[in-house]
Amino acid sequence: MSTISKSFQIDPHNFERAMLNEAAKILLSGGLVVFPTETVYGLGALARDATAAKRIYAAKGRPSDNPLIVHVDSIRMAQTAVADMTDEARVLAEKFWPGPLTIILKKSENIPTETTGGLDTVAIRMPDNNIALSLIEICGEPIAAPSANLSGRPSPTRISHVYEDLDGRVDAIIDGGDVELGLESTIVDLTVTPPAVLRAGFIGADEIQRALKIEVRSRDIRCETTDAPKAPGMKYRHYAPKARLFIVSGEDESAAKKTADLAHEARDKGLKSAIISSCEFAKYYDDKDLLYVIGSRNDSKEIAGNLYDILHKLDEDNVEIAYCESFYNIDLCEAIMERLIKAAGHRILE
Ligand code: TXA
Ligand code: MG
Repeated sequence: MSTISKSFQIDPHNFERAMLNEAAKILLSGGLVVFPTETVYGLGALARDATAAKRIYAAKGRPSDNPLIVHVDSIRMAQTAVADMTDEARVLAEKFWPGPLTIILKKSENIPTETTGGLDTVAIRMPDNNIALSLIEICGEPIAAPSANLSGRPSPTRISHVYEDLDGRVDAIIDGGDVELGLESTIVDLTVTPPAVLRAGFIGADEIQRALKIEVRSRDIRCETTDAPKAPGMKYRHYAPKARLFIVSGEDESAAKKTADLAHEARDKGLKSAIISSCEFAKYYDDKDLLYVIGSRNDSKEIAGNLYDILHKLDEDNVEIAYCESFYNIDLCEAIMERLIKAAGHRILE
């Protein structure tokens, strides 16, 4: 891989903190550093530095009203970024951090509106990744980091995805291997009553509700057009591969047959076509050349973890049109379908 950004290779299970000193120095002097988290790779900059935040938006080509998530190494550091670490926030942080849960609270004066997309609230989380945590710890202050992809593209779960989108657009890239989970954190807004999940993820609304012992509004993936509260970033085109992606409704043999017919029809028209299928449905497709197997319906974590990798593979293989199975009847269906529907630009075939 030829690289233009400075690159560091770090084994997440075996590294010395000092190996991150140079990357921390770049951050502390206002630079941009890509680092791994357990969910997806993040594009980091000092959260208190308005100019650095602007550089993030420029590097990603991201609209400036789409706020960044602020990453911390502890509840104590979180307190410096928020006006008030409420009791509810503390309960969630103690239960789910470090981990894939982002909490929205009123921001403190330490966080400029450039970082929060003009809002007076801030999204914070403590990632469950030793490289990320050590890097933040060395910096000694919160690090703002959106997913490390160009705006609109699938989030990066492997270092090759990061290089493809951001090499030369950032000062440094820390290669910490493939990420563990592969989908972005759940976002819960604690500034509204009742608290509302703005983005689904590995931690479900039901788990948050159990921890808080109060009602929590969840997102309904079947009614994407309702006025349920959404994170500002959710209104933009997202996660999209270059191929025209379609979701085929139905999770049975007849849906699989329909998918095969559609993919063959497209291929016969001369289009490079693809089918995204679960292990269970793969047997319905004779044409293995077109097949991208995403994982087992009995292991929704596997499907969630492979989703962005498959979207990237479609691009690498120059696929022009792709048909994907639906996943409304499995665990993590909200988190998976929320991304798939956006990646497909809401093209759902009934
Ligand atoms: O897992 C993750 O959350 C990853 C890793 C890198 O930590 N980060 C991530 O960041 O997914 P990003 O920028 O791709 O997505 C952040 C989402 C956007 O939809 C944004 O609108 C929302 O969080 N968000 C950030 N601050 C917010 C706020 N104050 N109020 C509402 N939504 C907010
Ligand atoms: Mg993103």
